[in-house]
Amino acid sequence: MRIVSVVGARPQFVKLAPIAKAAASAGVEHVIVHTGQHYDPMLSDVFFADLGIPAPDVHLGVGSGSHGVQTGAMLAALDAVFDAQQPDWVLVYGDTNSTLAATLSAVKMHLPVAHLEAGLRSFNRRMPEEHNRVLTDHAADLLLAPTQVAADHLAREGLAGRTVIVGDVMTDVLHQVRDQVAGAGSPLVDELGVEPGAHYVATIHRAENTDDPGRLAEIAAALGGLDRPVVLLAHPRVVAKAAQHDIPLTQGSLIAHAPLAYPQLIASVLHSAGVVTDSGGLQKEAFLLRVPCTTVRTETEWVETVQLGWNVLADTAAAIAAAVSRPRPADTDAAPYGDGRAAERVVATLSGATG
Ligand code: UD1
Repeated sequence: MRIVSVVGARPQFVKLAPIAKAAASAGVEHVIVHTGQHYDPMLSDVFFADLGIPAPDVHLGVGSGSHGVQTGAMLAALDAVFDAQQPDWVLVYGDTNSTLAATLSAVKMHLPVAHLEAGLRSFNRRMPEEHNRVLTDHAADLLLAPTQVAADHLAREGLAGRTVIVGDVMTDVLHQVRDQVAGAGSPLVDELGVEPGAHYVATIHRAENTDDPGRLAEIAAALGGLDRPVVLLAHPRVVAKAAQHDIPLTQGSLIAHAPLAYPQLIASVLHSAGVVTDSGGLQKEAFLLRVPCTTVRTETEWVETVQLGWNVLADTAAAIAAAVSRPRPADTDAAPYGDGRAAERVVATLSGATG
C-alpha cells in the first residue's frame, strides 16, 4: 500500500511525525509531499529534523500568497504529483489551504482521500480554516476523527458512514516529546531570565486576531498589561502585520521572541504559569501537559479543554486578565484526546480499507 501525505504548514508537520513513524513500523510505503506553504526554517525544517521525519519526497515550493493564489498554485502542481505516485490513499491533515488543495486535486482524480483530524468545527464562518475543514470532510472518502465530539459533528452532517474515531495523533507526539524534555529547563528562562513558573507563553497568529490593526493593537496591549511577563512566540504573520501598522510587540509585560522548535516549545510551556493563545494545537498541548490555557477567541474546536476547566475563552483585555489569574483547575484523568496510539490506528485503518 502506498500512502501519500500532503502537508505544508507547521501544525501539519507535528501530526505527520507519528504517522511517518507508524507507516515505517507497519512496512507501509509512505510518500511525503510538502506544498511549501510554510518555508521559514523555524516553521518547517526544524520540525522534520527534531521529530525525525524523513525529508519530503516532493517539495512544491508554493510559498505565501492570498488564499486563492496559494491554494490555486498547490492545486495546479498536485495533479502531476498524484498522477506520478498513483497512491492507494492521499492523506490530508487538519484545516489549512494545503489540506483543501490536496483534497480537491485528489478527489477529481478519483483517488481515495483520508482526512486526519476530521470533524472539527468552530461554527465560525469567518475563519478560513472552517471552510477548509468542512469542504475537506464532505469531499473525503474516509474521515479520521480525533474525538467523539468530532464524530458527532460529522454524523450531524450525514457523514457517519465514512467516519472512524482513531484518537488524536498530537497526543502521540506530545507524549513522546514530553518524555524527551522532562528534566530539561526552559529555553525562555535561560535566555530571557524570566522566572520559572511565573511567566506566560503566548502565541497569536489567527487572521481574526492579526489582520485588523485595531484588533491586533488591542491584543498586544492586553498582553502587555498582564500581571506577569508574557513571552510572545511571534509567528511571521504577526510580526509582519505589527510592523506594517507600527504596533509594538514588546510593551509592558509583553516580550516578543522568535518561534520555537517543537521540543523547546513543550519545555517552555511546562515551565510556564500558563498559555495564552489562539492556536488550536497549543490549547490541546497545554491541556495534555496540565498547564492552564487562555484562548483569545470567541469559540474553540477543542471544547473538551474548556469543559474540563483547563481552557477559558477570553476575547477582551479584561477577560484575558481575569482568565490568566484564575485559580488552577481541578486535576483530571480525562483523556478525550486518546491514548497516544492514534497514528498506529490510522495506518491500520488505511491498510484495512484498501485490503
Ligand atoms: C496557516 C494556516 C492556519 C494554521 C497556521 C499555522 C491557512 C488558511 N492557515 O496560517 O490554519 O494555524 O498556518 O501556523 O492555511 N509567512 C512567513 N514564512 C512562512 C510562512 C508564512 O513569513 O514560512 C508569513 C507570510 O507573510 C504569509 C503569512 O505568514 O503571508 C501567512 O502565512 P500563511 O501560510 O498564508 O498562513 P498562516 O497564517 O501561517
